[in-house]
Amino acid sequence: MSWAPAELDLTRPNAARMYDYFLGGSRNFAADRHAADAVLAVAPQVADAARANRAFLRRAVRYALQQGIRQFLDLGSGIPTVGNVHGIVHRTHADARVLYVDVEPVAVAHARALLGNDPRVEVIQADICFPDFILQNPTAQRLIDLTRPVAVLFVSVLHFIPGGVNAIVEPFRAAMSPGSALVISHAATGTATSQTDEVQRLYQRTPTPLQLRTPAEVEALFGDFAMVPANAPETMPASDTALLPVAQWRPDPEDQTERGHVASPFLAGFLAGVGMKRGSGS
Ligand SMILES: C[S@@+](CC[C@H](N)C(=O)[O-])C[C@H]1O[C@@H](n2cnc3c(N)ncnc32)[C@H](O)[C@@H]1O
Repeated sequence: MSWAPAELDLTRPNAARMYDYFLGGSRNFAADRHAADAVLAVAPQVADAARANRAFLRRAVRYALQQGIRQFLDLGSGIPTVGNVHGIVHRTHADARVLYVDVEPVAVAHARALLGNDPRVEVIQADICFPDFILQNPTAQRLIDLTRPVAVLFVSVLHFIPGGVNAIVEPFRAAMSPGSALVISHAATGTATSQTDEVQRLYQRTPTPLQLRTPAEVEALFGDFAMVPANAPETMPASDTALLPVAQWRPDPEDQTERGHVASPFLAGFLAGVGMKRGSGS
């Protein structure tokens, strides 16, 4: 456990480390595993949901690359795991830059250890509830040039924040230049099952309770950005649906890891979307 920061409270479960456990990672403690096992006992699909969310992140990042975006701001980036943003982008674009931001000390410590001295990738410990702190952070300013398109990722993070989260997303929307991409996945209400209720109740006991929002509330977080059709016209019948369950947002038939991501009422409530900032660059 040499990777565990000294200030950590090992007795309290945490969403970042529970998510790591759902994905099969090892950066978690007994309290995290205990809480995660309680969630899995009532809703084993949570592990599928975590993997499907991770696959959505990969597809959204590749979509942003196809749009010419070479800078990535990953907010609530989590404990580094297979398919990290920098791993995806550097496979094809060695010059791309990635800034990871997370509030959780284990996620940040582990990311720092993993990244070493790569000048193209940085991690900062910050609370996304303070967007200006992040936007004005010297590391962020050195790495990310906001006069050029950037992909800003809020992937599976905003539902851990109570209250109105538009105040968090809006400053990023405003700071992004035309041609930038806003990527969001979010647990939503509307298709709730009894399992959803139980999962929400279990997270209520952690320091990071789940805050579900309606699909309309999630879509509103994109402001006046142009929503990317969630069904890729080349692979599926055209649709103007902007938000779809994570596993159905432009699925990649070539990706073996996505096999078995079946639609279920539980997964249906986990929505994903990408919006592009309008303007001369879009
Ligand atoms: C479920 S994980 C998602 C990780 C990654 N984005 C993904 O989708 O694979 C949620 C992450 O959000 C982080 N997080 C929660 N609240 C946060 C906040 N206020 N500021 C920054 N990060 C936060 C947690 O520490 C955790 O790492």
